[in-house]
Amino acid sequence: MSIINSLSPRAVAAPESGIVEVVNYARGREGLLPLWVGEGDLPTPDFINQAAMQALAAGETFYTWQRGIPELRQALSDYYFRHFGTRLPPEHFYVTGSGMQAIQIAVQAITSPGDELVYLSPAWPNIAAALEIAGARSVGVELQFEGGTWSVDLNRIEAAITPKTRGLFVNTPSNPTGWTATRKNLEDILALARKHDLWIMADEIYARYFYAGGRAPSFLDVMESGDKIIFVNSFSKNWSMTGWRVGWIVAPPETGQVLENLIQYSTSGVAQFMQKGAVAALNEGDAFVQTNIEKATRSRDILCDALIATNRVETLKPDGALYAFLKIDGVTDSRKAAIDIVDKTGVGLAPGTAFGPGGGLFLRACFLRDPGQVTIAAERLCDYILKL
Ligand SMILES: Cc1ncc(COP(=O)(O)O)c(C=O)c1O
Repeated sequence: MSIINSLSPRAVAAPESGIVEVVNYARGREGLLPLWVGEGDLPTPDFINQAAMQALAAGETFYTWQRGIPELRQALSDYYFRHFGTRLPPEHFYVTGSGMQAIQIAVQAITSPGDELVYLSPAWPNIAAALEIAGARSVGVELQFEGGTWSVDLNRIEAAITPKTRGLFVNTPSNPTGWTATRKNLEDILALARKHDLWIMADEIYARYFYAGGRAPSFLDVMESGDKIIFVNSFSKNWSMTGWRVGWIVAPPETGQVLENLIQYSTSGVAQFMQKGAVAALNEGDAFVQTNIEKATRSRDILCDALIATNRVETLKPDGALYAFLKIDGVTDSRKAAIDIVDKTGVGLAPGTAFGPGGGLFLRACFLRDPGQVTIAAERLCDYILKL
């Protein structure tokens, strides 16, 4: 048997990321404006780095608490009180090695091989891939795109539920569409989950990037004790820490030992010195997050206003998250278009084909960047679009 055929079929079937494919094609080109990946243009602020470096210098290099150091779980509890108005005790929090790993652990906690999880599509591709690798089936339910904005149809979600369905994955605000659930959407989805006895996996990592002001509606606003909701979250986007790989889970305390065991048998806990950096991010980072939000707001306006003014782009401004998910007249193959755009304009976009059902005709641009750079990217894109 060949080496590749002797591997697990589930591992071999895991797809190459359609975003990385385009990045690899044009990585490192001179003058490139990289709007393709979901991250900002700033490195992690120094006060966070210093906290991690001090811990490292102090010898905090031993195995540590699997659920996260008590100081970080307390800081998470305080952060939720400040920004979500909910006092959740530290027992609700689990520190993970990235938002991605939080998703993986939640998938392991909720599903067995053969189970199904319904998610809203287009979606960040790693969600479906994590499910499939775990042997569960990802069932995409398409959001509706009408009049330049996205909306959810509860009937479609309910129609996708089968006896094998274990949960609903809801990412709001959404990567890549920017769709942001209203409080009423969240109440309806929660009612559906209660009716069918399903888990909700809530990915609210972009909750602070909400352009109507304040933060986006959260399941925390509508849930009651006893509801089966597991939140996955990350330090990546708010505090410019994408390369750190630190995230967290919020879950009912009853799940404590199970989640701790799953962490034990994956990373056995996040490095203590990195957790010290994360404590600084939460306790001292509100002003920094606010500057990121203001930058995203300005750059979103610059990019979307310019593109909408061409009259060749159907997409309106997104309500939340960090992406313009563009439907451009004349684009029928977004993978080809992403390659052509990077070749002709030097602007890196992610092809909508990477985001599953419903995304094929779109291109995604991340706007958490310096407004000056985004202005140049917008000019180049408008020029390209008007020549199509
Ligand atoms: C919707 C969503 N969830 C989770 C993540 C995971 O973030 P990370 O693994 O960097 O913590 C991302 C990253 O792009 C995302 O877009």
